[in-house]
Amino acid sequence: MSIHIKFINQFANVTIKAALAASYLIGKKDKIAADKAATDSMRNELNKIDMDAKVVIGEGELDEAPMLHIGEKLGTRNGPILDIAVDPLEGTNFVANNLPGGLSVIAVSEENNLFNAPETYMDKIAVGAVESGTVDLDYSIKKNLSNLADAKNKDISKITACILDRPRHKKIIEELKLLKVNIKFITDGDVAGALLVSNDKYKVDIFMGIGGGPEGVLAAAALDTLKCQFQGRFIFKKENDILRAKKMGITELNRKYNIKDIIKGDSIFCATGITSGDIVKGININNDDYISETFVTHKSTNTKKVYLQKNKINRD
Ligand code: FBP
Repeated sequence: MSIHIKFINQFANVTIKAALAASYLIGKKDKIAADKAATDSMRNELNKIDMDAKVVIGEGELDEAPMLHIGEKLGTRNGPILDIAVDPLEGTNFVANNLPGGLSVIAVSEENNLFNAPETYMDKIAVGAVESGTVDLDYSIKKNLSNLADAKNKDISKITACILDRPRHKKIIEELKLLKVNIKFITDGDVAGALLVSNDKYKVDIFMGIGGGPEGVLAAAALDTLKCQFQGRFIFKKENDILRAKKMGITELNRKYNIKDIIKGDSIFCATGITSGDIVKGININNDDYISETFVTHKSTNTKKVYLQKNKINRD
């Protein structure tokens, strides 16, 4: 079974509309309003699609998120049964402060094929199309970097590692500096950060460090089609996070998840730019038209490309 190719445009339209909705709040210093605009639009558009879908990664649980909460059913119920992971606004700071890199993101799989990730941190590692086992969350930083350098036939000092600029990464950063690795710091937006390993043009060899668990699953969905490697392990700091994870059926709290544990079978991933970033440009409004860029992957058709679209703005 696979997800019909016709759904590519339909899901791309969902992230395009959500990105447009959020784009009116670029630079307004209001993360919540921007997130709400993207979420409302995304839910509205998803409900128009002929599918019987369920949110597996969303804006939170029912008690904290009125829209796109985990378990929410979406679509006309007249179509294939799908699982959906959403991040209507990935990089709320970027949009609120008019900084590069704000995205609207969705990942779709067939029923029960997308990991149901709790809203907790995840330790992540991603590399491009090298042999599986080249890097591993259980290896030391040095071993990962030298294995990768060997696999890519270059010196460690020519390797670039992307990591969120956070105090929790102090030790990793110190080690990377000692190894003379080039560091690409990102201030937010680790879905895009992880995707940078997928193509040499981004000049990033490895993505590492701790970010959001849901963002890890979203990135893994695209990296699977892009034939990259990804591993993640949840980090539970609070008792409440552990309870939630158990409620979601996670019994082995320290388990290391490989890409195949996170996403199975066919998938579609769409990420539309709100503000321009490394992967896609942001929404560009010109009078009654707007241009959007959406990075799309579809596993069964091996689609991996950026769709540029010009649409009319609906003023109704
Ligand atoms: P939001 O869009 O929800 O603000 O998330 C942005 C983000 O940078 C994610 O990309 C990343 O996974 C997470 O926040 C990191 O969390 P923290 O800011 O707590 O380090």
